[in-house]
Amino acid sequence: MYAIELESATLRYDDVVALREVTFRSEAGKMIALIGPNGAGKTSILKMLAGLVKPTSGRVKVLGKDPSKTRGLVAYTPQREEVYWEYPLTVRDVVAMGNIRRRGVFRWLDSHDSRVDTALRLVMLEDLASRKISELSGGQQQRTFLARAICQGGEVYLLDEPIAGLDAPSETILLEILKTLRDQGKTIVMATHDISATLEIFDYVALIRNRLVAFGPPKEVLTSENLANTYGGSTIALHLDDLEKVAKWR
Ligand SMILES: Nc1ncnc2c1ncn2[C@@H]1O[C@H](COP(=O)(O)OP(=O)(O)O)[C@@H](O)[C@H]1O
Ligand SMILES: [Mg+2]
Repeated sequence: MYAIELESATLRYDDVVALREVTFRSEAGKMIALIGPNGAGKTSILKMLAGLVKPTSGRVKVLGKDPSKTRGLVAYTPQREEVYWEYPLTVRDVVAMGNIRRRGVFRWLDSHDSRVDTALRLVMLEDLASRKISELSGGQQQRTFLARAICQGGEVYLLDEPIAGLDAPSETILLEILKTLRDQGKTIVMATHDISATLEIFDYVALIRNRLVAFGPPKEVLTSENLANTYGGSTIALHLDDLEKVAKWR
């Protein structure tokens, strides 16, 4: 059984074809990066895997099931702009929300629960547990939502640009946490613009431009030709040189 599977998945929004006949799959315990320019369809892939939108044609499966039947096993964190950050909730409140399914809506705020503590420890936010989420840095907010997903007991983590706008240390911490989850057998699908971060850490890269340009291990997929087909134009040649420098330096 595959952890995630897209088979000729096409997604239209009215007259826009967001994704055309996308096919790729991964076994569990892998990190998969979705890379492509804005509007390429990265968020759309994550939303199909999360069961939030259905493919217009083709098939999408998560843990061998229709995505609408995997609730509780799949954690989805939306792109930053889609989250309302001003809720007067603390870090602990948000993480404890991961328990709603198990404990019921009226008990989730009774959050002195070892699952919450374990999740907070894993993302290194124990010391900030009482802090309001609106008062956190971007990286800490991402880790809070990751902890909520961990608390929920997710097997598959769908993360939409979680490292966008983070400074280098915050990015490193987040990627380390994701590696830990992967090593526990979880599957992580992450949209990102940070190609260099995917080189050494991710198992698979999917290059997307409203279709699948390439899918496979990063060192095979991140060729200048594939990148040019994904991003278009010649700007990418320069980028690729930078990429190699960054990869050595990392
Ligand atoms: N709800 C929607 N209604 C209409 N068009 C949409 C909607 N969501 C996304 N799109 C379009 O689908 C395409 C893919 O978008 P998206 O999946 O958000 O790409 P990415 O995350 O790679 O930037 C874009 O052309 C976008 O404008
Ligand atoms: Mg997006």
